[in-house]
Amino acid sequence: MEQPGTEITVEYEDSIDFYLDTLIAQRATDPQNDLISHMTHATIAGQSLEHEHVRGTCGLLIIAGVDTTWSAIGASLWHMAQHPTDRRRWIEDPDVRPFAVEEFLRFYAPVTMARIVAEDAEFAGRAMQANDWVLLPFPAANRDPEAFEDAGTFVIDRRRNRHVAFGLGIHRCLGSNLARMELTVALEEWMARIPDFELADPEGVRWSTGQIRGPRELPVRILNGT
Ligand code: HEM
Repeated sequence: MEQPGTEITVEYEDSIDFYLDTLIAQRATDPQNDLISHMTHATIAGQSLEHEHVRGTCGLLIIAGVDTTWSAIGASLWHMAQHPTDRRRWIEDPDVRPFAVEEFLRFYAPVTMARIVAEDAEFAGRAMQANDWVLLPFPAANRDPEAFEDAGTFVIDRRRNRHVAFGLGIHRCLGSNLARMELTVALEEWMARIPDFELADPEGVRWSTGQIRGPRELPVRILNGT
């Protein structure tokens, strides 16, 4: 196991950059019906996109689309493992599922982002200096009692739920509807096959650290499944 602080070197041929560079080069000469081909041949104001831009966008989509959704799925399963009433409701009442998905996103919002302060400013009585980093803790905003009734409680059929799990403003999540679909499909498939399960080892659940929150080890015991 790597020790904290140990530097990991990855050869270019083993890197995600190599994988993407190869794919982009292929699509440049042999376009397919896909996003990389589209970006490789797109122009903005008559200019082609630079290679770095295309590769960066692909990298962003991978980072933004993978850790986030499986964290949301994992946190939802962690919840379901401990709440038999919510499991029953999900199974018996398909109409509740869209509300449940939004409540999972609100209650277990996986993403916290950051910004760099552009210029000296004061916000809510706090001095902020240019180049300071500030966190945007969307999970905390989602538990704001001034914004949500009974904010600290998971309410599976919460109707009014203007959560900010996908952020706000111009950088709001580009993949939010894909994410919703992935979460819905994952839970529907899981619950159809494994309607009853519990944590096999509550102490053994290991959560991620950092900006993307979700369980990384989640031992469950299947009580009833097909
Ligand atoms: C539950 C799953 C997801 C959550 C909670 C989530 C959350 C977020 C949040 C909070 C932001 C805003 C970042 C900011 O304000 O700086 C964001 C941005 C973004 N997300 Fe997601 N995301 C999820 C899934 C996805 C998926 C599946 C994709 C695409 C495959 C995706 C693509 C993006 C992209 C490209 C951005 C950057 C948008 C920009 O900077 O203009 N996300 N996401």
